[in-house]
This record gives sequence, structure tokens and C-alpha cells, in this order.
Amino acid sequence: DLTGPQILRMVSHAHSLKQVSLPWLAPQSRNQKNTRLRMPSQSLFNKSITLIFSKRSTRTRVSAETATVLLGGRALFLGHDDIQLGVNESPRDTARVLGGMCQGIFARVGDHAEIEELAKYSPVPVLNALSSLWHPTQILADVLTLHEHAHLFEPTQIPSPGPNKSLPSLRPLTVAYVGDSANVLHDMLVTYPRLGHKLRVASPPQPAYQCPKAVWDRVTELGCNKDIWWGSDPREAVNGADVVVTDTWISMGQEAEKEQRLKDFAGYQVTEALCREGGANPNWKFLHCLPRKKDEVDDEVFYGPRSLVFPEADNRKWTIMAAFECVFQSIPRSSLIFRC
Ligand code: CP
Ligand code: NVA
Repeated sequence: DLTGPQILRMVSHAHSLKQVSLPWLAPQSRNQKNTRLRMPSQSLFNKSITLIFSKRSTRTRVSAETATVLLGGRALFLGHDDIQLGVNESPRDTARVLGGMCQGIFARVGDHAEIEELAKYSPVPVLNALSSLWHPTQILADVLTLHEHAHLFEPTQIPSPGPNKSLPSLRPLTVAYVGDSANVLHDMLVTYPRLGHKLRVASPPQPAYQCPKAVWDRVTELGCNKDIWWGSDPREAVNGADVVVTDTWISMGQEAEKEQRLKDFAGYQVTEALCREGGANPNWKFLHCLPRKKDEVDDEVFYGPRSLVFPEADNRKWTIMAAFECVFQSIPRSSLIFRC
């Protein structure tokens, strides 16, 4: 729901929050003795945020809980066995009740329609922590990680951090995604082209692995389609890629399809050989939202020097913190900038 400039402002805010909270990471602090921990603003002081998670989570949950603490608020984790939602109560009634007690809802759901319903009936802002179609906070972390590592893409031009700890600028990149058309890819489709990057996607040719119509409609509505190439050959997808991204072939809830999916995705594993044969930029870097299975990427890439996966995971916290600060600190519904 954000524009390109709004996405960059939020990522830049995340970068500032990270530097305030971890000042010893800032380049200008490395030679200084005074690296005392400073506090981010206490913008969620006395506020309670509910985390409705109907699916498992490590990064998103812990990011949300720890970020809320740093902002002075309280996060209430509500797993699917903890509340009435989905068993005895509708999303509509749950949204109204939680919104009467808390100042924000961060929800991980199954079907995307569930979060639309929560957002429709909640009196407080609702932010998507992952749904069947989208995973917006993941892409904020990916964008922050690429900006932080901008120097890796331009070895001869080290970008200056600029005044006021601003976000390092990033040259236009070619980002390749090899794998399933799932929530993480869908947010890449509506994000990278609006930030000036090109996207190349390879998914198996069967209809089940193509972009859902609701997502592609949004991609075309935003005009992102003109910067997206989509085929079924993973080697063709990584041609000229500066960054190669993948995700699990078996998303949460698809466990029954595992056997069929492993067959259909044969040949789509991200490896050094695939990227060399496909003609990726020799300096290509690797991203993965995690959790990772060995099917979609081998150990050589995942644990190798190209991999940015752990800085990417760390950045979930700072980007979720920025999103919480922007979305949850102002209560009036009229100021809501993203509903899902
Ligand atoms: N990337 C991600 O969303 O991880 P979790 O499922 O562990 O939250
Ligand atoms: N596509 C994956 C992302 C996990 C963060 C899933 O939905 O399970």
C-alpha cells in the first residue's frame, strides 16, 4: 500500500532505529570510545500491540516482541490455541474486541481474506505479518539489507553513509527469484520495480506455480509489470542478476503437496553452477527469508560468502520496529496508511 518513496522512508527510518539502538555498528562510531546504548523514542509507551499468529514464526514474532519492548510498549502474543479466533469467533468480532483494548494488531493468517476482514472491522490499525498472498514486512528487511550492502554491488565506489546516518544509496539492481510464486515473491513484485530495480522470475510452468490473479492485477495496477521478466527457465532468470532470491518450495499449509512439489521444482535449486551457467553477475549475492530447507538452495550458497541471509534476518527487527512506529503510534483510523 506504500508508494516507492514511502517504502524508502520507512527503510531509512529502520536504518536510523538500528543505528540508535546499536550505535557501535554505525561507521562513524567505530573509532569512537563512547558507544553507549541509546534509546529509540518511546513512541509505544503505554500501548499494547496484539500479535495474532495462526501460523508458526521465529523471526517475525521475535522481531515484533523485541521491537515493541524497545519502543516502550507491550506485545501480546496470541497463538492459534490461545484465543477464540477461528474456532469459536469470527475475524470480524475478534478485530472489534481486540481493537477495543489494544492500539494495534499484527496478524499472521492463512487465507489473505482473513486479514482483510480483520482490517475492515478493526478500530485500530492492522499490519500483515504474513498471509497466503503477501509478506510485506519481509521485503522491508530485504530492501534495508541491500542498501546496507550497497558497496558490495559497486566495489569501486564505496557509497558514503552521508549526513545524519542516512541510508546508503543503491544503484539499480537486477534481482532474480527462482522458485514458487508465494507471498515473499509477491511483495517483491510490487516493491522492487517501484524502487528502480528489475526483477527476473522463474517458476515451474504448471498453473499452480504462476502468479495468482489478485496479485498480478495489483502488479499491473502499479505499473510494475514492465520491469518484470517471468519464465520457467531458472538459468534464464538469473542472467545478469546482482541478487538471487528464493523461498521454500513448500510454504506453511502446503505440507500435503510436498511430494508433488519436490518433483515439480526439480532443477530449481539455487547453486553456484546454476548461477554461473545462467550468467549471473559474478559478484551476485543471495537472499532468503528463512526458514530454509536444503531443497531450494544448497549449503555452499546458503552458508557461503555471497549469502546475506543472517543480516537479512536481523533486519526483520528494525524494519518491523519502523513499521510499528509509523502505523501504531497514531491511533485515529483516518491516518491509517496500510491496512494489510
Ligand atoms: N521470514 C519469516 O517470516 O520468518 P518466520 O516465519 O520465522 O517469522
Ligand atoms: N512462503 C513461506 C514464507 C515463510 C516466511 C511460507 O508462507 O511459509
